[in-house]
Order: sequence, then structure tokens, then C-alpha cells
Amino acid sequence: MNLTFTEEQEMMRKMVRDFAASEIAPFIEKMEKGEFPREILRKMGELGLMGIPVPEKYGGAEMDFTSYIIAINEISRVSATLGVILSVHTSVGTNPILYFGTEEQKQKYLPKLASGEYLGAFCLTEPSAGSDAASLKTRAVKDGDHYVLNGSKVFITNGGEADIYIVFATTDPKLGTKGIVAFIVEKNTPGFVIGKDEQKMGLHGSRTVQLTFDNMRVPVENMLGKEHEGFKIAMANLDVGRIGIATQALGIAEAALEAATNYAKERQQFGKLIAAQQGIAFKLADMATSVEAARLLVYRAADLRTNGLKCGLEASMAKLFASRTAVEVATEAIQVFGGYGYTEDYPVERYFRDAKITEIYEGTSEIQRIVISKNL
Ligand code: CAA
Repeated sequence: MNLTFTEEQEMMRKMVRDFAASEIAPFIEKMEKGEFPREILRKMGELGLMGIPVPEKYGGAEMDFTSYIIAINEISRVSATLGVILSVHTSVGTNPILYFGTEEQKQKYLPKLASGEYLGAFCLTEPSAGSDAASLKTRAVKDGDHYVLNGSKVFITNGGEADIYIVFATTDPKLGTKGIVAFIVEKNTPGFVIGKDEQKMGLHGSRTVQLTFDNMRVPVENMLGKEHEGFKIAMANLDVGRIGIATQALGIAEAALEAATNYAKERQQFGKLIAAQQGIAFKLADMATSVEAARLLVYRAADLRTNGLKCGLEASMAKLFASRTAVEVATEAIQVFGGYGYTEDYPVERYFRDAKITEIYEGTSEIQRIVISKNL
């Protein structure tokens, strides 16, 4: 693995770091109050950040996967909300079309997704099909040149805000993984109903909704891949998506470590800085070591992907470890801040609230252990 970033990747890091500091940071208070960051996403589109891996011929930036991960990393250090919006939009909202779409589908949707005019979302999870994704019940019945979809989806990130949804449904639940079909669904399709907006513990600026499909007619030409290829399309895109969520977790952990370290170098107790006291110094040492290990796993998985190699195992390892690290480091950061860390006056309580979901979505830590152990 090459541990040195290219000049182009370093430029991406600097550009996104500057953007996050000047444009995203001032908007955090509004996002914490629930405002969706539309205007920031528009600016990200102008900078090419909404279509980093998309080829130039479809209006994208055509940059390597590691550059995309660098962008999520830098954004998530400042706002995990924007980190997940970008990751879901790209990894599981845009990439299924890029890798499994027909030429017509690519030409129709990719330029709008890559420019940020359209936002993408991914609809796999259902009320009774979470970790057991293949048990989904949303039904797709072929009717002439359409499929008629009926069913509901839950916990849809970017739901309601997104324009394009990658939807998974089954033609026959008895077929399990072999009956699932993937579709590109436009928000304005009749029968597409936006439901409850979940009130979450964290990621307050990101939208998470329930969706219902009520006799929703989707043209056959909007099917992705072959008819019963849906489960493999979902899994293949989650392999890559999990690197994005691992990176979001890494960004949160880095931010928490930085905040705790800076605070420990300012706060005095017992006549000296708390950073100079072993109880805190060793805590910071352990936090920094975990963050570095998470960073190596994340960029190792990204490097495999950049080089076109299989990365499912490494993506799951990165997500498992980085998400745990985010939770642990954010928890310890609050401990370093003491009572102040429990207040909204400092960002560490936000890092703590935002970190937890990284152990749950795009496959819980238990699912990552299934994927890892199956690979052993
Ligand atoms: N790539 C390609 N194909 C794959 C694959 C992969 N990574 N993983 C499995 N498959 C294929 C298998 O080869 C198999 O094909 P064959 O039958 O032809 O051999 C088929 O898919 C079925 O595989 P399994 O028998 O392993 O399937 P399973 O039902 O046991 O499920 C699982 C495996 C890993 C547990 C899977 O269900 C899973 O990942 N569950 C978690 C779901 C998840 O991550 N949900 C996240 C929702 S999205 C989200 O959270 C977005 C957001 O908002 C942030």
C-alpha cells in the first residue's frame, strides 16, 4: 500500500478542508436545529464534490476513489451530517447507476447527480428487513412495460430531499436473495409517498424518513442490471459504501481527538495543565493510537478500491474498527472536557451523538463481523 498521497489528492484535501472551515462550520448551528444544508450541497456541486468518481463524460470530476474518501474525511471532521449526505449520495445513490446502469440511464441521471442538481438515496431497509436485507417485502409486479411497486421503506437517508432513489423490491419473497430487483425511482413518480421524518439522536441536519410506495409504476427501462440481480447490486455497492461510513467515523474520531487535545493543553487543574497529568495524557495517547489505526484501515480499503481490487473484507474491517473508535474516542473526549463536555457549549457532545449511528447504518457492527468471518 502506498501511504503517501499524490499531489492531486493533497490538493483535494486542502480544498475540502478550506471549504469545510469557511462554508460548513458556520452552518453547523442551523443544521443542529434541523435545517437541511441545501445551499452547502449546491456549493459542493459547483466544486465537483457531488460527482467525484463520476467520469467527466457524464459531468463528474473523474477522480480516484481515494480522493473521494479524502473529501468525506475532511467534511466529516467538521460535519458528520454532510459526511453521510455525501457518502449516501455518491456510494449508494450514484454508484449503482455508474456501475450497473445502461448507457441511457447513465446519460439521463449521472450528469444531474454529479452536478448536485439531483441528490441520491438508497432504499433497501424495511420495517421488518434491516440486517436481514434479503427478507424485504416490497413487491414488484410486472405489468406491461412497467413494474408496479407496493411496500414501505424505513430509515432512508436523504429521503424526501433526494430526487433519485435506488429502490429494492422482490418479484417473489419466496425467492429470497434471488428474487430482488433494483430500480431507479424518481421522486415525482405517482404513488411515491414521503412519510415520517425521524427525530434522531444525532446527525440533525441529515434527513431520515419513511417511504411508502402505493401502486407506484416504474418503467421497465428504470430497472438496474438484470431482473434478479438486485441483491448483488445492493451488496456490491454497500461494500464500497461502507468505506464511506468508516471514513465518516474516522472524521468524527479525528475531530474529537483534536478537540480533547487542544482543551487538555489549555485547562489547568492542581496547578498544571491537565495534558501534563498522566491520567489525561495516557488517555490522549490511547485515543491517538486508535485514530491512527482506523485511518490506516480506511485508507487501505480505499487504496484497494482505487486500484480496482476487491475490498469487501477490508471495507467491513475498516467500518467495524473506525465506528468503534469514533464512539470510544468521542466518549473519552467528553471525559477530558469533564462537565463542560456534557454541555452544548463544546462540540464533543455532538461528536458523541453523531458517532453512534456509524456502528449501525450500512450494516451494523455485527453484520461487519459476519462479512469478515465469512472471508476468513
Ligand atoms: N458483492 C456481490 N455479491 C454478494 C456480496 C457482495 N459483497 N455479498 C453477498 N453476495 C451475493 C452472494 O454471493 C450470494 O450469491 P449466490 O447466491 O449467487 O451465491 C448472494 O449475494 C446471497 O449472499 P448471502 O447468502 O451471503 O446473503 P445473506 O442473506 O446471508 O446476507 C448479509 C448477507 C451480509 C448479512 C447481508 O444481508 C447484509 O449485508 N445485511 C446488512 C444490510 C445492510 O447493510 N443494510 C444497510 C442499509 S443501507 C444504509 O444504511 C444507508 C444509509 O442510510 C446510511
